[in-house]
Amino acid sequence: MKRTKIVAGNWKMNTGLVEARELVTEIKGMIKDEVNHEVEVWVFPPFPFLSAVSGLLKDSRIGTGAQNVSSFTNGAYTGEVSASMLNSMDIHQVLIGHSERRQYFGENYEILKEKTNRALDAGLQVIFCCGETLEQRESSHHFSTVETQLKESLFHLSSDQFAKIVIAYEPVWAIGTGVTASAAQAGEMHTFIRDILVQHFGDSANQTRILYGGSVKPENAAELFSMENIDGGLIGGAALSSRSFTDIVKAAK
Ligand code: PGA
Repeated sequence: MKRTKIVAGNWKMNTGLVEARELVTEIKGMIKDEVNHEVEVWVFPPFPFLSAVSGLLKDSRIGTGAQNVSSFTNGAYTGEVSASMLNSMDIHQVLIGHSERRQYFGENYEILKEKTNRALDAGLQVIFCCGETLEQRESSHHFSTVETQLKESLFHLSSDQFAKIVIAYEPVWAIGTGVTASAAQAGEMHTFIRDILVQHFGDSANQTRILYGGSVKPENAAELFSMENIDGGLIGGAALSSRSFTDIVKAAK
């Protein structure tokens, strides 16, 4: 079965309410035809704007997801947002393990495992991010780094649970730097990821979508997306412009 490509926009800690509304209204207006059964498009606005954005997308096929979720179920955890809260507001996707969360918020394998468990318990679909630093790549530890990230936080899942996971490979050295992994570098890592997933979860992992993230732009998207195991992209900077983002969606067709 052919894997449907996904183009996801991670807005990070950007936009205000007015800009968020404008951005999503423009995106919605610009990609109607392309989204029609050919590409799944998801946007990940900041928490306070989830409701406004998902409201504006109600009558479209574009999904709205959250950038983070608590590793706890509910209760006295000031400032946290639980998976069931997201589910209760019709938010069905969540990013887990983004390198910025690992780097600035101390999210380790165990925390990311718990976050994944909470998200799956609440019926959310997870985009689980992995990727090596420049130092790890230069010392030839990129494959083992990514393998450990996946093993430690995801390999406790059953194949059925794993079916709700989308992987995003995002080399840290390519995030927000303007430096993109070459199609060959990304393709090589995606094939490696596919192999270890199939080894562990079996044949069903051939259906897992593996996205590439890290300075994807309209100019390099088509080449990256043409690689066998690259099933779309997780877009940061370029997702903040409706023109660039929708051009990237078109490249995934
Ligand atoms: P970038 O970010 O496209 O700005 O490199 C990607 C991401 O962090 O998801």
